[in-house]
Order: sequence, then structure tokens, then C-alpha cells
Amino acid sequence: MTATTLITNIGELVTNAPEREGPGQDGFVGDGFVGDHPAGDDPAGDRLLGIVRDAALVVEGSRVAWVGRAAEAPAADEVVDAGGRAVLPGFVDSHSHLVFAGDRAREFAARMAGEPYAAGGIRSTVAATRAATDEQLTAHVARLVQEMVRQGTTTVETKSGYGLTVHDEARSLAVARQFTEETTFLGAHVVPHEYADDPAGYVDLVTGPMLEAAAPYARWVDAFCEEGAFDADQARAVLAAGAAYGLRGRLHASQLGPGPGVRLAAELGLAAVDHCTYLTDADVDALRESGTTATLLPGVEFSTRHPYPDARRLIDAGVHVALASDCNPGSSFTSSLPLCIALAVREMGMTPAEAVHAATYGGARALLRDDVGRLTVGARADLLLLDAPSHVHLAYRPGVPLVVGTWIGGRPAWPV
Ligand code: NIG
Ligand code: FE
Repeated sequence: MTATTLITNIGELVTNAPEREGPGQDGFVGDGFVGDHPAGDDPAGDRLLGIVRDAALVVEGSRVAWVGRAAEAPAADEVVDAGGRAVLPGFVDSHSHLVFAGDRAREFAARMAGEPYAAGGIRSTVAATRAATDEQLTAHVARLVQEMVRQGTTTVETKSGYGLTVHDEARSLAVARQFTEETTFLGAHVVPHEYADDPAGYVDLVTGPMLEAAAPYARWVDAFCEEGAFDADQARAVLAAGAAYGLRGRLHASQLGPGPGVRLAAELGLAAVDHCTYLTDADVDALRESGTTATLLPGVEFSTRHPYPDARRLIDAGVHVALASDCNPGSSFTSSLPLCIALAVREMGMTPAEAVHAATYGGARALLRDDVGRLTVGARADLLLLDAPSHVHLAYRPGVPLVVGTWIGGRPAWPV
């Protein structure tokens, strides 16, 4: 028989159970559990997050087997006392670029002294990445993934895009695959210097031999659809070529200015389009209609001094929103979803509940995953323990290391 663990004495459990789920098996919402919130709390947020107070959760193997009130919890082989603290689904970081070498601290400092951010900076990381060994790249990714786990991330998507040769893109993805199934081929990140005079030739390389070498290690295909990177036709060609290898599409778009990428993503019904900093009304309408998740990456605006994306406008328009780190050495060298949540609340018009939902359920939706980003019966037991009584503290106490435990697949991942 599979061993069971009861995590009990949870002051606040965020389940992200869909609002319409009825009482019974795991229907917390609407059965009174969320009604007895203290004054000043956010009942709409409680509903959004499917919050259960004075809760418990049973883990069986790698899955959640039971969720409900602590007073009604079944017996289990092992008991963990959460001490009245909050338990949340682990963060689902649906956008990162972890496979790279070197850093660009000098470029960041120059930016903070007034230099603008430009997509071309990517090329300096390409040179460092090509020069690194597989072992160096692997060790670097391991370090960043460990940083993420310590801050509550339990699922991470990560991309190639700093190799930009057939060999370097394929090995970047092979390195990434050691850490996650959610790997994305981003050969179309920027045109490398050796193709500066022949961007069409580079797109042929990306859609031909590079894709063929990369596809066995990738689940997704992506392109940076932006002035200075790839236009809509090039992005469309890359996505179509990837689809022929069974890769699902996602896009980087509207990071540096308005452009065609968001509408292209909506037209193609992609799972997600990421950045979405400069949106037209037509972009917002297209996102609502397609159901494509808009992934917002506030670490980028923090690090580039660009205006933050308007999450409020998107949410009010009925667009699905995710929050992710975009961890990369150029535009956002943070691995911290708690930081992104705090920025989203302070700078982007999100409530704490909306930001937490976007970093968990939203990230899972952006990856077309229904087994993570929630703590409902049957979901993967990926969760975090917060040294705080509620999710609100993630934004209320910015910069404080509140995550004191992370479980992945039902086992403690940190601290071990
Ligand atoms: O998502 N936008 C394109 N790619 C990265 C930036 C990469 C870099 O500057 O190295 C991003 O922000
Ligand atoms: Fe990115």
C-alpha cells in the first residue's frame, strides 16, 4: 500500500479548486468554508483561490488524496503539523531561460545609469553559452532550479535560445531536459551575428536542421516576435515548422512595443503569449476570444525600467493571466515568483489573490497542465509552506523569504 502523509493544522489552504466544484469530495467553495473570514479579508479572492481555513491535506504517493477541514481529516501513516501557517500550490513558473553562461551585470548597471534595454544584448550571452561545456551549463541550471525550489517553484518551463547553432540549441535543450519536461525550443530568439546579413537563411536553419535536432528534447516551440528579432511571418513559419514535429506553440510578443505577435498567438490558438506589456484594444479582444493565456513577466519591467503591463485591464476584460519570472541574464535575472507576485500587486493592479492565482493556476494553464497549480484530489502533491498565516503576506512582506518548505510529487524538496 502506498504511504500516506497528513499535513494538518494548516491555517489557510489555497486549493485553486474551480469555483463551481460542488461540496463533498473537494468542494470547499460555497459550502461555508470560505465564509468565515475575518473582517478586512477578500471574499472574492478567497473564492478565486478556493481557500479552506483550519485545513488538512492527505498526500498518497505523489498525489493529493484528500483535502478538507482538519477536524474531519482521516488517519495517515505520517503526520506533519503546519503550525497554523499557510499552504499553497507550488508556483508554476511557465517562462524562464535558464540555459546560459555568464551574466550581464554590467549591462544592468549601465541601464540603471540611463542606457536603454535592447534585444541585441542577447548576443553577448550567446557567445558565453557557446563557449561553455555541457557540465558547466548543467551545473548552472541546477543552481537556478534550486534557487527556484527554495522560493516555492515546483514546475518550471525553460527554453533554449542562447545557443543559436544546431549543436548548441540541441544541447541546451538536452541540458534543460534533465530538470523539466517543460522545455521550449527558442532557436528564433534573435538572429545570431553570423547570419546578420541573411536573416531569411537563419529562419531556414531554425525551421530545418536546428528544429530537427532540437525537437526530441522539446515540448514547445517559441519565437521572439518583436522589432529587432522576428516579424510575424517569420514567427508563423517557426511555429508551423514546430507543429509539424508535434511541438505546441507559445510566443514572446509586445515586450518592447506594440506588434503583431499577440494577435498571431490568438489567431493560432496558442496556449500562451508572453510579455504583453504594450497591448492595443484589438490585442485584448483577441486574447479574450481565443482564451490564450497572457503571461506577464514583471521582473522584466523591474530590470529594464519599462512600464509594467496592465494586469487589471486584462483581468477586467476576461483574459486569463499568468505570472512568470522570465529568469534570464539580460532582461530579468530573478528566479523569484514571490518577487513577481509582490510587483504584480504593487505595480500592475492585481489583488494578492489574483497574483497568487496567476503564479499557480495561471502558470499551469499557460502550460496546458491540469495536474499542477492546484491542490485538489488527484493533483500532484506539489506545494509550499509559507511562514505566514495567509497568501497575502507574499505581497505584504516583499523581499522576505517566507517560503520555508517545498514539496514536489509528495516529497519534501526543500528543506530536505
Ligand atoms: O524574455 N525577450 C526575449 N528574450 C528574453 C530576454 C533575453 C535577454 O535579454 O537575454 C526575455 O525577456
Ligand atoms: Fe523570455
